[in-house]
Amino acid sequence: MSDKIKNAYKSSKNIYDDVMTQGSIFSKLYIKIFWSGTDDNEIAKKILSYIPYDFSGSLLDVPAGTAVFTEKKWEKLEKAAITCLDYSADMLSQAKARLGAYRHITFVQGDVGNLPMPDETFDVVLSMNGFHAFPEKDKAFSETFRVLKTGGAFIACFYIKGKSKITDWLVKNILSKKGWFTPPFQTEDELKETLKKYYKDIDINTDGSIVYFCCKK
Ligand SMILES: C[S@@+](CC[C@H](N)C(=O)[O-])C[C@H]1O[C@@H](n2cnc3c(N)ncnc32)[C@H](O)[C@@H]1O
Repeated sequence: MSDKIKNAYKSSKNIYDDVMTQGSIFSKLYIKIFWSGTDDNEIAKKILSYIPYDFSGSLLDVPAGTAVFTEKKWEKLEKAAITCLDYSADMLSQAKARLGAYRHITFVQGDVGNLPMPDETFDVVLSMNGFHAFPEKDKAFSETFRVLKTGGAFIACFYIKGKSKITDWLVKNILSKKGWFTPPFQTEDELKETLKKYYKDIDINTDGSIVYFCCKK
């Protein structure tokens, strides 16, 4: 796989958390102008609420990134076994700095398109803001499905195209060129078709150009 993604996330690792959480006035403006004000903090809260605080199973967080949205929840899930996986060692090192002290959390540098786990390993697979970055999306769908147990939950959020002209312009002309996003991107209808091939009980919602959902294997 190209090093474009690794380099992109290496160069942005110091501003990533600020932009995603709208920590500064510039980040707030960026989100307001280019993302119709869609608040990643709110979407993170919604999708993390699918996982109860007494969850005691196994969970794969892919891509874990810097754990900016998951830190507070993961540290509380002490009965669970959480695996944080990311392709970028730079992003993962920040997740480790946040969560490395917890014995119920392990860290793996790897590729979602070739997961180093046996079939049916996890009760939950969470993919927050990942599929718009993953280069091999078909493999990412089939690998996350493969490692999920039958009856397990696949929970995710990411960018979909066709909702906002300015967001689509930004993604195509800037974010994809820099390597933070990787085409092709699906529309909501195309994603629904993909999910139907793999999953049942699909609870899917959109907020601006971000889709978020929970479904069962
Ligand atoms: C936008 S960040 C999302 C991180 C985190 N889930 C969050 O919401 O803040 C996208 C992440 O995808 C990772 N990534 C890109 N391609 C990947 C791949 N093939 N396998 C695993 N992780 C990948 C990048 O390294 C980056 O950390």
